[in-house]
Amino acid sequence: MSKLWGGRFTKKTDQLVEEYTASIMFDKELAEEDIQGSLAHVTMLGKQNILPADDVEKIKDGLHRVLQRIRSGDVEFTIGDEDIHMNIEKALIDDVGSVGGKLHTGRSRNDQVATDMHLWLRKRVVEFVDMLQKLQSALVEQAKANSDTILPGYTHLQRAQPILFAHHLMAYVSMFGRDIERLQDSYKRINVLPLGAGALAGTTFPIDRHFVAEQLHFDRVYENSLDAVSDRDFILEFLSHASIIMMHLSRLSEELILWSSTEFRFVELDDAFCTGSSIMPQKKNPDVPELVRGKTGRVYGNLVGLLTVLKSLPLAYNKDMQEDKEGMFDTVKTLQGALQLFAPMIATMKVNADVMRQAVNQDFSNATDIADFLVGKGMPFRQAHEVIGKTVLYCIQEKKYLLDLKLEEFKQFSSLFDDRIYAVLQPEQVVNARNVYGGTAKEQVLAAIGRAEAVLAETNAWVTEYAERSK
Ligand code: ARG
Repeated sequence: MSKLWGGRFTKKTDQLVEEYTASIMFDKELAEEDIQGSLAHVTMLGKQNILPADDVEKIKDGLHRVLQRIRSGDVEFTIGDEDIHMNIEKALIDDVGSVGGKLHTGRSRNDQVATDMHLWLRKRVVEFVDMLQKLQSALVEQAKANSDTILPGYTHLQRAQPILFAHHLMAYVSMFGRDIERLQDSYKRINVLPLGAGALAGTTFPIDRHFVAEQLHFDRVYENSLDAVSDRDFILEFLSHASIIMMHLSRLSEELILWSSTEFRFVELDDAFCTGSSIMPQKKNPDVPELVRGKTGRVYGNLVGLLTVLKSLPLAYNKDMQEDKEGMFDTVKTLQGALQLFAPMIATMKVNADVMRQAVNQDFSNATDIADFLVGKGMPFRQAHEVIGKTVLYCIQEKKYLLDLKLEEFKQFSSLFDDRIYAVLQPEQVVNARNVYGGTAKEQVLAAIGRAEAVLAETNAWVTEYAERSK
């Protein structure tokens, strides 16, 4: 059979043009959603008496058969049929005969492709919320197992104040929590039905868009037909949320890479998540976090790519918009790959609590606390800061840490020191003194873990509910 749109043409399409304009190589990914949308559309055509019931049944049976054949790899997609929509329509007509040509009544590929993308992406968004929830669970479990482990907290990558390792992990739980909220919020803008917008202006047939929306579990239909076929904000939004998720994963990756270096030795990633060197027998490389950090670039690239495609596009559909797909598919694949590995990598990570502890014992991260001690004795903070600065400088010159100083040595810097400072300087005391909501004191961290667990359960319930709705 010739082209589905061949009537107006007198010449064959140039072979290179066919290859250049086809999208079937990548939009075959949308096959299931394309058929799902067609089934709802043709059911509506029947209900509205636009097509006779007989034709509707034949078309539906045909679509089900085509779907089975696609699933078992029996449909050969061709570039000549350009994209998934026309390949499926062609397969349908081959199967049921010319009645198959009635399916496209009151519809355009423009509202069809938009519908496919909405159906496809909403499923993925639910899957990502689920994967992020699993990663949060792994982090929470490690936090629970390490609620007494103290390590130096850093600013400027310089030791700042000691913190609980659990507190550090819970920061990432908060970050991924925001990612989950963003995805959940975006669902309401993804779950809108474009179908019925026709090519751009609506259709002359008495269709029922709300009925189609109901069948496909869309919450709403697009208000404006031009907007329905040319809106790709929902994809941009996803690409930007994905970019932020990758940025978070990349920051965690960077810490895992640093922490597994011999210089830090704070953690050891499980052998199953590392690789060796072909030349240096001693090497155990953190390839997974390195690649996640690296792949963040392509996810940002896909966002900037689509923003640039859409910039300056006049309404409504333009062929440029076919470029919305590969970046989206690539981002989904990249994010799936990263999240799939991250949860078990965190769960199996060995935490070297003793090495962390040693690091805390050999630094000045308790300096703020003796400044606070002097403040408690009435000294203005700015002056206490100066006194402790001098004390630390003295320690560095003497190759000592604060806890090594004798009381007489402290007293050289201020007469307000007394022997209670030794308790104040203990890392546990330094940590537990920060007993404010959101702080690193053990009591606060355990409370934060409790709150996080409640949210994890809510997220789980959300995933169950929305997975059902997105079928
Ligand atoms: N393959 C096209 C795309 O992905 C489908 C829509 C084609 N519409 C058109 N008027 N040529 O954007």
